[in-house]
Amino acid sequence: MHWKALALAPLLAAHGSAQSASMPMMRFSCSKLVIDRLDPLVTPGQVPSPHLHQIVGGDSFNATMDPAAHDLPAASTCTSCTFSEDFSNYWTAVLYFRARNGTYRRVPQSVSEGLRADGGITVYYIPPYDGKKVTAFKPGFRMLVGDATRTAPSGSDPKVCHRCMPKTGDASHVNCASPDSQTLPTGFCEGGIRSVITFPTCWDGKNTDSPDHRSHVAYPVSGSFDRSTDKCPASHPVLIPQVMFEVMWDTTQFNHKELWSESGEQPFVWSTNDPHGYTQHGDYVFGWKGDSLQRAMDARCNGDVCSALKVQTPEEAMKCTIPRTYVNDEIDGWVTEIPGQMAMAA
Ligand SMILES: *[C@@H]1O[C@H](CO)[C@@H](O)[C@H](O)[C@H]1NC(C)=O
Ligand SMILES: *[C@@H]1O[C@H](CO)[C@@H](O)[C@H](O)[C@H]1NC(C)=O
Repeated sequence: MHWKALALAPLLAAHGSAQSASMPMMRFSCSKLVIDRLDPLVTPGQVPSPHLHQIVGGDSFNATMDPAAHDLPAASTCTSCTFSEDFSNYWTAVLYFRARNGTYRRVPQSVSEGLRADGGITVYYIPPYDGKKVTAFKPGFRMLVGDATRTAPSGSDPKVCHRCMPKTGDASHVNCASPDSQTLPTGFCEGGIRSVITFPTCWDGKNTDSPDHRSHVAYPVSGSFDRSTDKCPASHPVLIPQVMFEVMWDTTQFNHKELWSESGEQPFVWSTNDPHGYTQHGDYVFGWKGDSLQRAMDARCNGDVCSALKVQTPEEAMKCTIPRTYVNDEIDGWVTEIPGQMAMAA
């Protein structure tokens, strides 16, 4: 079967009554930790990083995060995620709105259906559906999906895409297939814009990182979203949890014709200064305490409740925030340039 049809499974299973014991997956919210110009994976130590990110997870996040020295669970005192042993960090680009007069405003985030958080990211960890052993990440593990410099679509099997959300409910559960697109939606989205980032499910079994932060992991040779027929390439034989980010951008305050350009062109721009949508990306730095993620995977934990894990309330998770390291950018209110980017011609 084609992956697009099989891709129905993950989001279907994640939503309420459709949840099925045969397709368990963890789905939980990680509230906003900080919005900052930092990128310890791609530009470690650099303050500010080239573009603005929204970051969630453990509060040991900082500009450097040297994999040899930075022990996330030991250095963290809290996490903005539901599972309180998860001190990992997760981050993506930030969405901006460009008004008719050429000024920009950061688009606020909202929380996914059925969860409670202050914006942030809904994180999935999806094991194979057929009961196969899945190997949790090792300390120091990190990876990157998407490309902040991309100027064209990524081909027939995208891993980063957008959906124009209906006011309530979800039009379809198919991930990265129609109605999703690699480009940003062209009209008003009553329920905001959702962006989904899907990470690889196969690991080389040796390296916790690679120079491009990608080569140590791979997508399966068939069924990229289908965890029932995952077949890893020989070079990357170890099945790992499928990490997926779901980010909801609340664009509703901008759904006014008079705010959009006269030509009606879609006005949203990623913090990479990308008005097309190709550069959204997701960064992951593993930081689960001890064997907690392995236990959760072995127990096939489902949703955001798991007897194998410690859980905190959304209120506790929302309390975990950190101050910005790079404070020179204006990140609220109307601005003439996206932080770190040159203004586009009007
Ligand atoms: C980042 O955090 C680690 C661990 O707490 C610490 O050793 C390091 O000095 C911090 N780096 C920066 C740039 O703050
Ligand atoms: C630009 O447009 C926005 C939205 O209408 C408005 O709030 C803002 O004040 C305007 N800025 C300038 C400099 O005109």
